[in-house]
Amino acid sequence: MSGFWSWFVITLVVVNVLAAWWLIWWTSRPIPREESETTQHIWDEDLEEYNNPLPRWFLNLFYLTIVFSVIYLVLYPGLGNFSGLLGWSQQGQYQAEVEQAEARFAERFARFAELSLEELAREPEALAAGHNLYMNHCAACHGSDARGAVGFPNLRDGDWLWGGSPRAIRASIARGRTGVMPGWEAVLGDQGIVEVTEFTLALSGREHDAELATAGAPRYQQFCSACHGESGQGNTSLGAASLRNDRWVHGGSREQIADVIRRGRTNIMPAQLPILGEQRVDLVTAYVLSLNLED
Ligand code: HEC
Ligand code: HEC
Repeated sequence: MSGFWSWFVITLVVVNVLAAWWLIWWTSRPIPREESETTQHIWDEDLEEYNNPLPRWFLNLFYLTIVFSVIYLVLYPGLGNFSGLLGWSQQGQYQAEVEQAEARFAERFARFAELSLEELAREPEALAAGHNLYMNHCAACHGSDARGAVGFPNLRDGDWLWGGSPRAIRASIARGRTGVMPGWEAVLGDQGIVEVTEFTLALSGREHDAELATAGAPRYQQFCSACHGESGQGNTSLGAASLRNDRWVHGGSREQIADVIRRGRTNIMPAQLPILGEQRVDLVTAYVLSLNLED
């Protein structure tokens, strides 16, 4: 806060406290009774209201709240830039609690530091922690059952864009991934898209139009094989999906596949290391690995 606003706040607070004090004092004076005993307000024809001061003890409670506020403002922040005699701050308290929690966490998981990711994936306590992390940081995109959704890969079907080794999965999670599939509308034209789509369906073993697929084959080799491989096996160093297994990140209907080829997709997995730190990335990686052990 700049000096001006600090003094502005201090003035407001002090004036408020003094005004509250004055108001209580003013209402507690005995009320002159000469003119009338009541406030002269009349309800329901004959209900009148006396004008008596509040009971003493009740008023004193109000004075106490003011005393409390003054003590509070001396000890804690509240008066502009004055930080209070105790030096307490929200950030300070938060920092202290985070440090405490981190220390407890590090202690609890220290014994896992020696384990490989595969070993970690068989430790129930590590998996419980990994599951919690997954639910908080991943489920929104990959689904609470890790089966993904259109645009978000299934993490338990064994079909990996970027590779399924423990190292590759950890790298996907820690550093994030950006998959770029270019759009082909301008290059292929409507008929070209239809033909290449039929060829892609043929690669994945789906029902397709054989004539159109044959027409699409040379185009596939020309435009697609550099990334997806000559036989559609994919390429994990580019994140280029395998087109052979009938498992689709962006949906498996003929229309959805044609749309990906026509318009392309840029798909981003945000890096988790800056958010989670090394230890938690290991735990959540172990959890993802464990999903693939069971299946
Ligand atoms: C904002 C959404 C989002 C969040 C949050 C997110 N992911 Fe992802 N993740 C994606 C997308 C999108 C991709 C696909 C990237 C691509 O197409 O190349 C992906 C890819 C992956 C991959 C690689 C999949 C493969 O087939 O190679 C793994 C592993 C993964 N995520 C795990 C996680 C874990 C674990 C978390 C939580 C710590 C997480 N993700 C959080 C969106 C997200
Ligand atoms: C520059 C490399 C590159 C080229 C060239 C390329 N692709 Fe892709 N393609 C990718 C990547 C990377 C993805 C994964 C996108 C993502 O991360 O979501 C992808 C995804 C796809 C998908 C969706 C897969 C799924 O699981 O949903 C289809 C279908 C596809 N490509 C077909 C084609 C066809 C057909 C061609 C040629 C006309 C082609 N691609 C050319 C890189 C490429």
